[in-house]
Amino acid sequence: MTRILVVDSGYGGLTVLREIRALLPAADLIYLADDAAFPYGDWEETALTAHIIETVSGAIADHAPDCVVIACNTASTLVLPGLRARFALPVVGTVPAIKPAAAATRSGSISVLATPGTVKRDYTRALIEEFAPGTDVTLVGAPHLANLAERHLHGEPIADTAISDEIAPCFVERPAGRTDHVVLACTHFPLLRKAMNRLAPWPVTWIDPAPAIARRVEQVLDDPGDRAAGGQVFLRTSGAAWTLPESAIFN
Ligand code: DGL
Repeated sequence: MTRILVVDSGYGGLTVLREIRALLPAADLIYLADDAAFPYGDWEETALTAHIIETVSGAIADHAPDCVVIACNTASTLVLPGLRARFALPVVGTVPAIKPAAAATRSGSISVLATPGTVKRDYTRALIEEFAPGTDVTLVGAPHLANLAERHLHGEPIADTAISDEIAPCFVERPAGRTDHVVLACTHFPLLRKAMNRLAPWPVTWIDPAPAIARRVEQVLDDPGDRAAGGQVFLRTSGAAWTLPESAIFN
């Protein structure tokens, strides 16, 4: 039985877990919400690197997975090389989908909506240089959006203005045209997609890389299993007890 370990700082990585589950229903999935350390977006880089390496090492020792998915941009843009150097098993990351956004834009203006940590990363700048030359890229580090997404997932009502304030800097009017693609560069943000769509000052295409990550997981596995269901999902946290009902996980 194939086992896949999926790790995020909290519940945002569930947006990736859902896609892996849909594509590989025969695999066992272990989801680790490192909620004791949430939000990763506020951490200093050296401390976060050490913390993630320790956390993932412990989870690999506990669960012996065939593949690890870092379902978090804030972590992936920092620790993928370190994790890959340390472990022989495949490590799939989640990094800002700048390449498809730059390829698809018609106005030449895209935005990257991420945590404050991800927008500061050299990794993110390098993606822009490599894949978006000639495109106007607005980097938006949203300080509260991951937290709002967690609260929304747990059923708390979230004021529209709180979401609008976070996404507003993504919408830029330039003489050549206005923003037409927004990269969801934090796995929490697709949890708020309906509200973001409704509150957007004009329609844009939101790019969620989760389905592509699931396909990448399938590629790196020696035995991805068949399409029949049968895999189990194990939910773990590093802090508070898991309270989210299953209906909210796969919804
Ligand atoms: N889900 C994480 C990401 O994709 C970020 C949330 C956090 O700040 O911990 O970046």
